[in-house]
Amino acid sequence: MMKYRLLALLSAAAIMLAGCGSSDSSSSADANKPSDGTGTSAVTEASEAVTEAAPAEDSSYTRSKSFVETKDYPSLKELYKDRFLIGCAISTKVMNSPEYTQLAVEQFNSYTAENEMKPERVLDQQTAMSDPGKYNEHVPVTYDSIRTCLEYAQAHGFAVRGHTLVWHSQTPEWFFYKNFDKNQGNVDRETMLKRMENYIKDVLEWTNENYPGLIYAWDVVNEAASDSKGMRKESKWYEVVGEDFVEKAFEYARKYAAKDVKLFYNDYNAYQARKQKDIISFLKPIAEAGNLDGVGMQSHIGLYLHPNSFMSAVREYVEELGDIEIQITELDIGKDKSDNWEEKQKELYKGFFEGLMELQDDGIKITSVTIWGLTDDMSWRKGENALMFNRDLSRKPAFDGVVEAITGSGDSEEEAA
Ligand code: G3I
Repeated sequence: MMKYRLLALLSAAAIMLAGCGSSDSSSSADANKPSDGTGTSAVTEASEAVTEAAPAEDSSYTRSKSFVETKDYPSLKELYKDRFLIGCAISTKVMNSPEYTQLAVEQFNSYTAENEMKPERVLDQQTAMSDPGKYNEHVPVTYDSIRTCLEYAQAHGFAVRGHTLVWHSQTPEWFFYKNFDKNQGNVDRETMLKRMENYIKDVLEWTNENYPGLIYAWDVVNEAASDSKGMRKESKWYEVVGEDFVEKAFEYARKYAAKDVKLFYNDYNAYQARKQKDIISFLKPIAEAGNLDGVGMQSHIGLYLHPNSFMSAVREYVEELGDIEIQITELDIGKDKSDNWEEKQKELYKGFFEGLMELQDDGIKITSVTIWGLTDDMSWRKGENALMFNRDLSRKPAFDGVVEAITGSGDSEEEAA
């Protein structure tokens, strides 16, 4: 276990130096989503992590009282290794902590940066503003945050989902303005397309040149569908480029991505019939052009959902868009107000994974399932207890449900033995 401590400390030091998740981000939470507000600067967290003990196997370490030991849990990545990758949204807080890192390595083989690879962490406003004329069509980017994430993922054996390139949220507004100045209004469509192409080119080429084979999928476009009808209009991409911004993003991504990197469209409520119809309608020409490899269904769901309706929607995507991959990219299942919500949550997690495996047995390419966070207290869904582990890293019945979905046993505690 010494390696965890060393790697975690190296990661923490790298994060401190790189300021991954640094407080200078101009992140603006999406109006439609509760801000999680949990972020503290990487430096603070890194310094905490540096003082935090390493996992129990290291003789010079006694596990802090705030965490139970996790090394004897059944391993989801092992149980599902012949099915699909099992992923987790990893935040700076997790990367800075040896104990969180140990649990993540024990359970998952796929990594999504919860915030640290989004445009607001990559677009370099200071350099752009230093010479707006020079950078008008090719906005500078900084790779510090991405590098820290990919170093951590590589050091801990995770494959990576890139999240995300083109999104209406967590993308600074200055990116869309003449001379990057709000007072001068939007640039024209052609200039914005150049900025989009160069941003996508820079990120895809840099990550492939420096970490070849590490990123297996990119969320090229995130959440372009409206919650009511058609495409999301409250989006600077839609406003400045027009409704073909999705098509252009995938065209550029295909042009610059390495052959083994799969290009995904990612959205929430993607299982709901009306929204699914809109998504399919704008993805169809992209699929026909050969620029779409898969649909990412975020799956931020609740105990109201019956797995069958979700799985029918998965089949619909494949029927309508051709033999594409489906990835569950941000799974969390919020509790309801019932007294037995934990049991219901366990059953839904179990039924959800059983349903995905049934789809696979019918030939549908489910290639990864990512849980959107490690412990309930870290979740963006505050107070909904939506994940698989408690704050002290103890396992919840939800975790046991995911284990039982594949072991078939009625009591996953036995699996731990
Ligand atoms: O980094 C700052 C920190 O410096 C500051 O002190 C703190 C308090 O204001 O905010 C921190 O930024 C927060 C960031 O998370 C990092 O913690 C933002 O306010 C907060 O809005 C942001 O929330 C993220 C949210 O996306 C933003 O839209 C959540 O962590 C993240 O889980 C969530 O993830 C999205 C997916 O990317 C796309 N699908 C939906 C999903 C849930 O909204």
